[in-house]
Amino acid sequence: MSVRVRVGGGSAPWGLRSQTPGLCPPTTRLLSGERRATQALPPRKIDPTVSDSLNAPEAPRPVDGPLRHARAKGEPRFPEGPKADPAGSHFERRIRSFQPRRSRVTAGQADALQRLWPKWGLDIDGQRVVDIAELFGNDNPVVLEIGFGMGEATAQMAAAAPETNVLAVDVHTPGQGNLLNLADQNGLANVRVGNGDAIILLREMLTPDALDGLRVYFPDPWPKKRHHKRRLIQPEFLTLAAERLKPGAIVHCATDWEPYAEQMLEVLTAHPDFENTQADGGFAPRPQFRPLTRFEGQGLDKGHVVNDLLFRRVQHEVQPRTGA
Ligand SMILES: C[S@@+](CC[C@H](N)C(=O)[O-])C[C@H]1O[C@@H](n2cnc3c(N)ncnc32)[C@H](O)[C@@H]1O
Repeated sequence: MSVRVRVGGGSAPWGLRSQTPGLCPPTTRLLSGERRATQALPPRKIDPTVSDSLNAPEAPRPVDGPLRHARAKGEPRFPEGPKADPAGSHFERRIRSFQPRRSRVTAGQADALQRLWPKWGLDIDGQRVVDIAELFGNDNPVVLEIGFGMGEATAQMAAAAPETNVLAVDVHTPGQGNLLNLADQNGLANVRVGNGDAIILLREMLTPDALDGLRVYFPDPWPKKRHHKRRLIQPEFLTLAAERLKPGAIVHCATDWEPYAEQMLEVLTAHPDFENTQADGGFAPRPQFRPLTRFEGQGLDKGHVVNDLLFRRVQHEVQPRTGA
């Protein structure tokens, strides 16, 4: 099955969006961010049999375009959708591999978040252990994808392998809505969308050996030296991931940032829980099954070189107990 996706166009989904939607008269906010003309309505007749609030004059309405409800402080953005800060500050890590960004959610994404989140969404709150088989409704193998962005490649891979469950995690709300829409439109029953920091999911919410694979495609490269500590692929992360991966599980990473690719190769090679699938100990040829991702396309446009890494979680020999 082919998945209908649109790659490219518009600004980068992970870029900072500083655009603040324009505010309309007190209680209304427009979707497009631009001010629109308002239209005064004829005065209402007063009905003395109903409460005062029902007799209150109506606020002016915009002439065109949908209205967006202005949220009160603390009111959730999507009452049925992902939580703004699922893990709360008690799980806040000082060093994060992602950067918080303002994100404009389209009407289609907002609709998907409201409609599909209760069915296919998982808030990463760090408060409970997830029963993976219950989450997907079957015992099929489960692959975790960290940082799916807008989710086009995720949906394509899920469509190509319907017997593999994909737990796709990101903090990016528009991407969560986009991936839910793609899963819905393409009838993908094997995708679940996680909202929050994948580190908390791995550390607090997954059992040992829960995962059959891990995908990290084009993680934030954090090119400045002082930001290298924010890169996801580090020895401590690999130790945590190894605890959740079954022996034989494949870790698949890809990046268009060559210094990060070298770092990935170095730390994966040095880690005792992983072995390179490549006999020469180097990067893997780009596998046919990995579609072009949105971020990858942007890297290629800039002339970047893309490297894939395919490592296997090794089976440790169980040491026989010796004793008297
Ligand atoms: C550079 S984008 C790449 C997106 C996509 N894989 C692609 O290739 O188009 C990296 C994504 O990883 C997400 N991310 C980074 N660290 C994360 C974490 N610890 N947990 C969840 N998502 C994370 C970011 O929010 C961002 O959307």
